[in-house]
Amino acid sequence: MSKLRIAVQKSGRLNEDSMQILKDIGIYIDNGKDQLKASAKGFPVEVFYLRNGDIPQYLKDGVVDAAIIGENVLIEKGNGITIVEKLGFSTCRVCIAVPKAAKYSKIQDLEGKRIATSYPNTVKSYLEENGVKANLHIINGSVEIAPNIGLADAICDIVSSGSTLFKNNLKEVETILKSEAVLAVSPILSAEKQAILDKIQFRIQSVLKGRQ
Ligand code: PRP
Ligand code: MG
Repeated sequence: MSKLRIAVQKSGRLNEDSMQILKDIGIYIDNGKDQLKASAKGFPVEVFYLRNGDIPQYLKDGVVDAAIIGENVLIEKGNGITIVEKLGFSTCRVCIAVPKAAKYSKIQDLEGKRIATSYPNTVKSYLEENGVKANLHIINGSVEIAPNIGLADAICDIVSSGSTLFKNNLKEVETILKSEAVLAVSPILSAEKQAILDKIQFRIQSVLKGRQ
């Protein structure tokens, strides 16, 4: 019998809540996180621990069948991937921020400016919608440090509690989108796997109802 391959974030903010919801629906994983792949007890499921940014491509290619992932990551690089369930945890927003002391009143103030980000596609389309041309610097992490080291005039990154912005003397000036963890599905899914997914989704819905 085939198993449904579910990707979860290997480490980071989504990991713990992702494992918790799997547990809550009765999917128990034996081996620890040092394994990149784990079989579940009580369900025909395999869990793959992957880097957030790699998950959209794995879904597109059908390397994994489903994933628990931040909606923001799918918006950035997941076109064609279907979201079947919003999971209500790991809420955040993708924002543009500038140094506290900077003068800012509208998005047009970023014309010709340098923006550091891990979300180039998201920020690009937002700037385009507003007719603004800026220079993007793509960084994979610790984006908020960029203005302080003279690398950028603004940043675009995810904000959750706001503490990283605060610590780096930045202020949020634009909210591009809001995000939460979602259950996303590969476009390539056999009928057998779809049936497993349907069961999982049904259980998730019950768990989420119980959490309300
Ligand atoms: C994430 C994100 C922000 C921060 C937002 O970074 O890139 O920097 O969390 O959370 P907050 O508003 O609650 O402070 P993370 O700590 O995951 O590290 P990274 O950017 O180096 O990947
Ligand atoms: Mg960060």
